This record gives sequence, C-alpha cells and structure tokens, in this order.
Amino acid sequence: MKLSVAGTGYVGLVAGVCFAEKGHVVTCVDVDEEKISQMRQGISPIYEEGLEELLKKNIDKGRLFFTSDYQSAYSDADAIFIGVGTPEQPDGSANLRYIAAVCRQIAQSVTRDCLVVVKSTVPVGTNDKVEQFIKDNLERDVTVRVASNPEFLAQGNAVYDTMHAARIIIGTEDEVAKKTLLDIYAPFDLPIVSVSRRSAEMIKYACNNFLALKISYMNDIANLCELVEANIDDVAEGMRYDPRIGAKFLKAGVGYGGSCFPKDTKALTYLARQHGAQLKTIDAAVEINAQQKTRLFEKAKKRLMTFENVKIAVLGLAFKPGTDDLREAPSLDNVRLLLEHGADVVCYDPIAAQNFHKRYPNVPLANSVEEALEGAFCCFIFTEWEEFVRLTPEVFRRKMRVPLVYDGRNILDPELMKRGGVEYYSIGR
Ligand code: UDX
Repeated sequence: MKLSVAGTGYVGLVAGVCFAEKGHVVTCVDVDEEKISQMRQGISPIYEEGLEELLKKNIDKGRLFFTSDYQSAYSDADAIFIGVGTPEQPDGSANLRYIAAVCRQIAQSVTRDCLVVVKSTVPVGTNDKVEQFIKDNLERDVTVRVASNPEFLAQGNAVYDTMHAARIIIGTEDEVAKKTLLDIYAPFDLPIVSVSRRSAEMIKYACNNFLALKISYMNDIANLCELVEANIDDVAEGMRYDPRIGAKFLKAGVGYGGSCFPKDTKALTYLARQHGAQLKTIDAAVEINAQQKTRLFEKAKKRLMTFENVKIAVLGLAFKPGTDDLREAPSLDNVRLLLEHGADVVCYDPIAAQNFHKRYPNVPLANSVEEALEGAFCCFIFTEWEEFVRLTPEVFRRKMRVPLVYDGRNILDPELMKRGGVEYYSIGR
C-alpha cells in the first residue's frame, strides 16, 4: 500500500520505517530539510536500536522515501499517518498546532479518497475535529476518512515495540477505514482491538496514566518501606508474580520522566477538569513524582554540610537507558538544584551527554565514570545504564574523595556497597 507519514520523530519515523519493512511503500514527510537530507543518506536523526539498519535497508529496497514536499507525498497516498508532536502547553493541555498544520496540508494536497490516521497522542475528541477541519479545508471533491491508531512504543525499544506490539488499536466507526487499517497491519500479524475513535484516543491516555500511577504507587510504598525498614525491591519481587498486578513498572526510583508520562498525565487531568471532573489518582501520581525526583538531593542536603564548591559526580542524564532523550529527566531537576546550591557538578552519560551540553554548556562533562568520580565528595546515579550496574565499591573508594553514593535507580547492592566501605543510599531499601 502507498503510505505517507507526517513527522519524523520517534512515532512517525519508527512507524514509517517499520511499515516499509513490512512491504509498504512509505514516504516520510518533515519540514526540517536538514533532517530529510540526513535520512535520505541513511542516517537516523534519533538513536534507536536497529532503526538505522532498517532505514538503510528499506531505502535500498526502494520502499522508503523522505521529502519535505508534502504535496507530492500526500496527493495520491492510500493512507497518511500523522505522527507529529503534541507538546504540553503551560496549562497542561496538549498543543495541537502541528496536527492542524499537517491537516491543512493534507486538505490542500489530496487528489483522491484516502484515510488519515492519527498516531500522535491527542485529547479525546481530536479525531472528530481533525475530520471536520480537513473537510472544511479540502480543495477537491474527495472523501477523507479519519481513524485513530495510537502508538505505544517506548523509547529505546521503539523498533521492537512496533514490530512486536502487544496490540494494535484501531479506532474508527467507518468500515472502509477499518478495512484499510486491517490491510496495513495484516503483515505484522498482531492482536487487533477495534473500537470507536474516542475510545481509541482514551485507551492511549488510560494506558500511559495507569503506568505513571503504577510507578508513583511503587515510589509511595518505597518511601514507606524506608520508614518501616522493609525493602522495596523484595516487596516488588513478591508482587510481580501476581498476574493481577503484572511484573512490569514496579521499579521504585527517582521518578518517571520522558516525553510521554509527564505530558500525558497533565493532559488527562486537564481534560477531566474541562469536563468538571477530577482525576484524584492521577493528581496524586503527578505530585508524588515531582517530590520523588529530588528525594535523594534532599537527603544529601541533610547529610552534607554544604554543596558550595563541593565536587559532585552525576552519573546518568537520560530519562532512562537506551536513549539520548533528556525530556523531563530527573537528572535535570537535580543538576539545576545542585548548581543553585553552588556545587561543582561533573556529569557523565554514555549517550545523552551531547544533548545535555546543549542545555548546560557550562557544566563539565566527563568521558568516563572514573573521570566523573575523580575527587568527588558525593555521587548521584539517575539512569540505570548497564555500565553503572556493574560498578563495584572499589571504584567509588579509589576515585572519590568521600565514597558517598546516592543511587536513584536502585541498581547497586546495598550490602555489597556497605561491606565495600561505601556510604550508600537508594530508594526504599
Ligand atoms: C512510555 C510508555 O511506556 C509507552 O507505551 C508510551 O507510548 C510512551 O511513554 P517511554 O516514555 O519511552 O514510554 O519510557 P518507559 O520505559 O515507559 O519509561 C518512562 C519513565 O518511567 C522512565 O523515566 C523510567 O525510568 C520510569 N520507570 C519505568 C520507572 O521509574 N519505574 C518503572 O518500573 C518503569
């Protein structure tokens, strides 16, 4: 099938590449000319395992194209997927201007009946607006159907999550639209859940908000574990065998970050308020997460006399391992606080360092863990990168001025650290 994808961020680019891999002819559209020229040369603008290989392979096979010329990309496509961003606005609502811009371009360009598929995370009711907006702006006498098809991929696992999605949500009441989407997804051979457009839009928010709530719940329990001398990792181990609870998203730590949970929790509570309702559970999850992010900083503040001119090593900047993304990363709140308190901060991250440098050009970056730890009085771990999991007490003792470690991802063994002479603090244990 001839598909076009609007937006080449995590959602759009990964979808485009995976559709091509499954045999469709795909044109990815973006306004950023530089990105387009990079991608044409087989270079992925984002770091995702396996993405660049598939991108190159499908360009070579003549199934994957990149352009900023939306007219040619949209004019005779069977389906156009919208994967542009819906960033958070100051009041917490989702900004739909990029979606609107693409819809306008679609309305100007299509020359035959086609299906527009909204993959971006959008507030319930947006697909209705998209349909009306395109209809109002259409320049030719064609039928444009609109369906919702939310994306559930997690960064760092994007290609795998797309190829092996737990389910595909198809949101439409229109039989033609449904059949087109079923045909597009047939080669993936994945479970399909077919619902109304509004339910599909809600499923996406309900999932992300539930996962955010689950993490905040575990962090809440973790904080109580500290007070009653229980161990949150053991508690999670005991919980995960219960199929009603599930084995994942039970890890306590310095809270969730990233491009989805912080934004989608705020967007859903905003939507509720707009309708005169209140999502008390999600309000609580957001509040807990905000406090959790700086919990270890607050502990260190009590432990240290001052941060003024004290060398502090920060290990891990990305909001989670496997990505260079820093959006809403707990590391950022902590670095900001440490700097405000006069600390001499040195950071290390195997992949996100360059992105961090763009935000904090004056904060020195180390080239290795050892370099970051050299002469430090205290160390924070904010991302569970594999190379940090393997750290031994010996390296903290050898390199640091004072082997004082705050592990925000519970990746090191407290007993081992203690026995090895490290003063070690983590979350909920
Ligand atoms: C998430 C959803 O998983 C995905 O389905 C959705 O489409 C987009 O949002 P992502 O933000 O890429 O994906 O990452 P995810 O792996 O879900 O982690 C989000 C945050 O939660 C990270 O900061 C991570 O460190 C944190 N987290 C996750 C925990 O603190 N504990 C856990 O047990 C799991």
